[in-house]
Amino acid sequence: MRADIQEVLVDEAALKKRISEMGQELTKAYQDKNPLLIGVLKGSAVFMADLIRVMDVPMEIDFLKASSYGNEARSSGTVQLKTDISMDVKDRYILLVEDIIDTGNTLKFLMESFETMGAREVKVCSLLNKHERREQQVTADYIGFEIPNEFVVGYGLDFAQKYRNLPYIGILKKEVYE
Ligand code: IMP
Ligand code: MG
Repeated sequence: MRADIQEVLVDEAALKKRISEMGQELTKAYQDKNPLLIGVLKGSAVFMADLIRVMDVPMEIDFLKASSYGNEARSSGTVQLKTDISMDVKDRYILLVEDIIDTGNTLKFLMESFETMGAREVKVCSLLNKHERREQQVTADYIGFEIPNEFVVGYGLDFAQKYRNLPYIGILKKEVYE
């Protein structure tokens, strides 16, 4: 798999260090709020697993699946909630956990959905942010790393469902997807 990676953008040590810092910040922000962390499948699964273990507060977790139509490497702007969450979000402090914010279409849709469902507060924690590609005026409250406009894989992020198990974030070689 390493042969398909052009460059390692964020290595294991940098991920660990930054996620631990985020955990400390979130621990302070969510004392006594019993937050419901909602991971957006499948990309956020690896980040979620590490993030909750560096947050020292009582909390609950859940997952949902949001799919945008269109080809694999771009979000189309039409988002669909594939699995609804089982927990009641009414009056809860919701923290959406994302792998990456790209166009912002997924995030905009999810934030509006939770507000409609009566959440008390909806905040967003994203491991990566590709701000250059934004189509919607949305931003995450907590961001791990700002990254350039490159297609990245690893640590949960995929290309055609592969590479999620890489322990680092790497830029995928263009010849793999073009
Ligand atoms: P958005 O709606 O364009 O913000 O789409 C965000 C989703 O697109 C992410 O949750 C990823 O699933 C996917 N995505 C965007 N950029 C990348 C990337 O560089 N690598 C892998 N997946 C990506
Ligand atoms: Mg995703």
